[in-house]
Amino acid sequence: MKDTKSLPSCQEEADIFRENCLGLSEQDCVAHFEAQKVQNSSLEITDAAIGVWGASRVGVRLSPSNIVGDIEDADRPATYSYAVRKLNERGVSYVHIVSPRVQDNEDIVTTLPLGPERFRPLFTGETRLIAAGGYQPADAEDLIQSGHADAVAFGRWFIANPDLPLRIELDAALNRYDRSTFYGGTEKGYTDYPTLSSAKIASVSEGICHAA
Ligand SMILES: Cc1cc2nc3c(=O)[nH]c(=O)nc-3n(C[C@H](O)[C@H](O)[C@H](O)COP(=O)(O)O)c2cc1C
Repeated sequence: MKDTKSLPSCQEEADIFRENCLGLSEQDCVAHFEAQKVQNSSLEITDAAIGVWGASRVGVRLSPSNIVGDIEDADRPATYSYAVRKLNERGVSYVHIVSPRVQDNEDIVTTLPLGPERFRPLFTGETRLIAAGGYQPADAEDLIQSGHADAVAFGRWFIANPDLPLRIELDAALNRYDRSTFYGGTEKGYTDYPTLSSAKIASVSEGICHAA
């Protein structure tokens, strides 16, 4: 028999409906509920992982502004707020939020209110907020100082800089990433970006600078 313990009661469903569908047309509201069903199945997967490893060893990544693959949602703020609230209740280790500053891995300009700033107030316990998407080391630092995130993750800069943490620490220049090597192909663009020390060795052997 199906376990119904984790399913919301009719009253809870009605409350959720009232909370999230105010001002939406019936069609949008149905679309919104469909999106919530997807969120609920994500939560079931999260719960299964928590059952094995414990909440403190499970993290979830959300991309509230992602439209890749025709992703649609009538009310993204409500859907993702719901997901963040539920993950926060579970006390997962972190929720990783991809900011609307990127679409896929291209920087974009947007005012969509779906970044870490929006969801931050929903983190009320031990769950940490990691932000990602279009951050440079300096604005990542600003985001952390402002309290809108506990940590910032880097994608493209990490691909191009195998020693990224050291470079950030030393305020050193970053290698530019080569977008043409991002997906597939060979090891080119994955294992051949120079580290600071390899760049220094190369420049010493070329007589460009002197070793310390
Ligand atoms: C080559 C490449 C592969 C990626 N693969 C994934 C992926 O499998 N899942 C995912 O959620 N994001 C993926 N991303 C997106 C990054 O995790 C990250 O969200 C995005 O690059 C924005 O962060 P950035 O501005 O620091 O690069 C990928 C990005 C790149 C460049």
